[in-house]
Amino acid sequence: MVDCMARVIEQHRLSADYFMLRLEAPEVTAIARPGQFVHVRVTGLGDAALRRPFSIYGADQGVLALVYKTVGRGTEQLARLATGDSVSVIGPLGNGFPLDCGERVPLLVAGGYGVAPLSFLARRLGRRGVLLVGARRADDILCTADFTDLAWDVRVATQDGSRGERGLVTDLLDACLATSPVVPAEIYACGPDGMLRAVGERAAAAGVRAWLSLDKHMVCGVGACLACVQRLRRADGTEWIGRVCHDGPVFEAREIVW
Ligand code: FES
Repeated sequence: MVDCMARVIEQHRLSADYFMLRLEAPEVTAIARPGQFVHVRVTGLGDAALRRPFSIYGADQGVLALVYKTVGRGTEQLARLATGDSVSVIGPLGNGFPLDCGERVPLLVAGGYGVAPLSFLARRLGRRGVLLVGARRADDILCTADFTDLAWDVRVATQDGSRGERGLVTDLLDACLATSPVVPAEIYACGPDGMLRAVGERAAAAGVRAWLSLDKHMVCGVGACLACVQRLRRADGTEWIGRVCHDGPVFEAREIVW
């Protein structure tokens, strides 16, 4: 884990509420793995200067890339950063996704901007797979070109039908799991809790292993404050309370007690 000041190289808007921020942070990118996150504090924000966790979208050649949605004062301030500004970054944090799926086909399931860490994962897996991505509307579908550039099979669903199939990403997953060429698969998912739970249930029914990246409210990001606790289950069936920032954010679906 590195604690550093990172210089803004570039920032641009991806769609109405989403931004891509690229930071110079070679100490972080040297050790970052897909599924890990960084904790970022925007300086000069007064009482809103708490750190915010962001999944890592990219970590190549010293450039740390983040995709985020503006949802409050912290992220609105982040969106105002310009080239040459600096932010405080702690990371990489958390465990990340396992990268070895053997002979199984990687089947990535993303809800909204949950696609960001999965793009990083696809680039590091070194093999082709299938991306299923769903969101409310076309504007919330991001980064699909990353996957088509890697010759991945990309399938999109939106609830309003403005892009791809009309429906939920779990509808795409149902169709995918029913199609024999995609099985055996290894599922990796990132998105809201309801989606992750549904993905885990479908994976269990299909006998497919699934890795879920939980998106919990965080404060300290390093296991000290207990803001991000999650009930978990060991292989022997006993339960324990984990901290998503410290023990996750990635868990095998069978570990999570919803
Ligand atoms: Fe503090 Fe996880 S955010 S323990």
